[in-house]
Amino acid sequence: MSSLYIHIPFCASKCAYCGFYSIPSTKRKADFLEALKHEIAFRKDYLHGEKVETVYFGGGTPSLLHLEEIENILKTLHDCFEIDPDAEITFEANPDTLSLEYLSGLRSLGVNRLSIGIQSFFDNDLRYLSRKHDSNHARQSLDLAKEVGFENISIDLIYGLPTSDADQWNRNLDLFFELDIPHLSAYALTLEPNAVLTKQIELGKAMPISEEDSIRDYEILCRRAAEHGYVHYEISNFSQPRMHSRHNTSYWIGIPYAGFGPSAHSYDGKSRQWNVSSLEQYVENGKRRTENVQLFEREVLTMEQQYDEYVMLRLRTMWGVDLNYIKCEMGERFSSHCEQKAQPLIARGRLSQNKEILYLNDDQMLFADGIAEELFW
Ligand SMILES: C[S@@+](CC[C@H](N)C(=O)[O-])C[C@H]1O[C@@H](n2cnc3c(N)ncnc32)[C@H](O)[C@@H]1O
Ligand code: SF4
Repeated sequence: MSSLYIHIPFCASKCAYCGFYSIPSTKRKADFLEALKHEIAFRKDYLHGEKVETVYFGGGTPSLLHLEEIENILKTLHDCFEIDPDAEITFEANPDTLSLEYLSGLRSLGVNRLSIGIQSFFDNDLRYLSRKHDSNHARQSLDLAKEVGFENISIDLIYGLPTSDADQWNRNLDLFFELDIPHLSAYALTLEPNAVLTKQIELGKAMPISEEDSIRDYEILCRRAAEHGYVHYEISNFSQPRMHSRHNTSYWIGIPYAGFGPSAHSYDGKSRQWNVSSLEQYVENGKRRTENVQLFEREVLTMEQQYDEYVMLRLRTMWGVDLNYIKCEMGERFSSHCEQKAQPLIARGRLSQNKEILYLNDDQMLFADGIAEELFW
């Protein structure tokens, strides 16, 4: 079992808050597609013939690609990997890029899951985030996606926005539930070091954000999602039963994946590697691919690092940290360490233990990373 990720590094314009690698120009799209094709072919043995169960087009803005370009990428992937006929194939899309024709084209190419970056159904939030779309686009894109027959749809929302009070956040969620969309990824607005919004706030040119607002919105979100029967399966992810993202879940449970394109990460079960976060460099590297040079950075994980990573990823999910798994796969010194470090956290009401599984308490979810650090080796 394995997964594929394709990073499309183009956006129509750069959103002020975003720290993902992308550039606001498609001038070098042809060069990118050429380099991408080479990378996929060159690394076709990375997953050692494991069957591919999920494919994810992320970005950037994959929906800036033309249908023929997507078709060509899919063809290269099918030529190089054994992709399960029932594979989940997700495509990230921005609301302002979607038309009926484009969406039905995606469906005919085999895309069976859409992840749409709605962010908010309210124009004041969208303006603060410097999004290209407005609330009409947001609604329209979802209507169109349903009209062409997409059932497996996810939307992204961002909370903790200074433009939105609790009432507006509740109304955002009302709309989400009314539309009966099976999956939600909801993120607290974070200030990324290289993002324009961070600078603007520092200079007093944009409204600051507050942790209290994020916590308030997160509590509303968790309560309302549960009331509507959504499973809260990862800190930021909620789904109707059996509609979770198979792709993202595979990251959290440690399934190998190959990532292609600038800034994409890969994991083969023992080591991680990541491509350069520069389109220029990526295209240059593509030309040197036949030489025996290492075109990525790589880290072989020690057992200590594997333990830390397991704890960090699993604590974020509803499956929790399994002490038995740690004992069998990593050894008793790791499971004892974990159990011992967990005790004070359990006493302070931050963690719960059910038999051999450690879980984060619901009200501690937003602090998962700090709590995981306390369990680290
Ligand atoms: C890889 S981005 C790309 C999605 C797509 N290009 C779009 O913007 O619609 C995935 C999601 O991460 C979230 N995101 C990006 N930067 C964020 C930030 N600084 N704080 C919170 N969420 C963020 C947004 O919800 C975004 O839709
Ligand atoms: S949020 Fe999406 S559209 Fe905006 S810059 Fe980031 S990747 Fe591009």
